[in-house]
Amino acid sequence: MKQVIKAADLESAVKEAKAKNLEIGLVPTMGALHEGHLSLIERALKENDLVVVSLFVNPIQFNNKEDLAKYPRTIEADLELIKKLELKIKNSCSDNLLAFTPTVEEMYPQGEPKEVYHFGPVEEVMEGPRRPGHFSGVAVVVRRLFDLAQPKRAYFGEKDYQQIAVIRSLLAQIKYPIELIPCPIVRADDGLALSSRNMRLSPEARAMAPAINATLEQAAEMAEYEEVDDVKEWVLDTLSSYHEVNDSPNGLKFEPEYFEIVDAITLQPIEDWDEAKENGAVGCIAVWLDGVRLIDIVKF
Ligand code: PAJ
Repeated sequence: MKQVIKAADLESAVKEAKAKNLEIGLVPTMGALHEGHLSLIERALKENDLVVVSLFVNPIQFNNKEDLAKYPRTIEADLELIKKLELKIKNSCSDNLLAFTPTVEEMYPQGEPKEVYHFGPVEEVMEGPRRPGHFSGVAVVVRRLFDLAQPKRAYFGEKDYQQIAVIRSLLAQIKYPIELIPCPIVRADDGLALSSRNMRLSPEARAMAPAINATLEQAAEMAEYEEVDDVKEWVLDTLSSYHEVNDSPNGLKFEPEYFEIVDAITLQPIEDWDEAKENGAVGCIAVWLDGVRLIDIVKF
């Protein structure tokens, strides 16, 4: 692995790789790496000659200053994890992985970018209205990364399901021939989707959190014989009443922000399973627990 801090150095490494006809894979991250991120990097290493992993806490995608300030920054530990992964993968040699760790000034030398992206219906649901400006901020940084790394393939996790739809729309708008590779969610043994936010959960809340995935899995079974609205209502009721039914410690509660059942590609809510016959249906949830906002999905 080579660490690159300057955009110009990334550009010259990419130019060199292109001259040799190497295929480049890009894995954008904000650092605080865990097995979920590593699964994307591992897949990218299998499918490309050169992998660029970016580690950059992108200030313009945070609509909440406190959230930005609290975001974990663990760059040294992140680089160690990447090195360990390289050791684990036999065919990976030290010059096929670039860790791009720019500063904010390096990423946005002209100051805060003025560009704004719109994505229509895919951003008008779920996270969109609740995090104004978030997806535009994601698009600005991802486009900048596309321009610098010029990847053939870009890897994104299905944990941030709506983000994938937004990137698909971004690629259609800017007409870059980049293959978008959605990757499955990596979970802890107890089913909780890995997330850098999990470390903010108290031990009691961490013990309760797997109920999110367990509830969604049960919902997937119910979907075989129940209507969409009934499944939705059941998920929201089950989580909202969890603390009463299970007598949870310290009065910890799940507070669902939304649970939507949507078409897997258009992300528009469906009322009938038949509406998602072509693309499939996905259930997306955001739920508060112990002051931490957790998100997860289930495929129906
Ligand atoms: P970040 O939250 O660091 O996530 C980086 C990538 O890892 C995303 O594609 C995310 O979906 C994926 N990921 C996170 N947890 C995962 C898990 N448990 N299983 C599989 N994949 C997982 O998403 C962002 O950063 C930013 O918005 C970014 C795209 C880097 C733009 O700043």
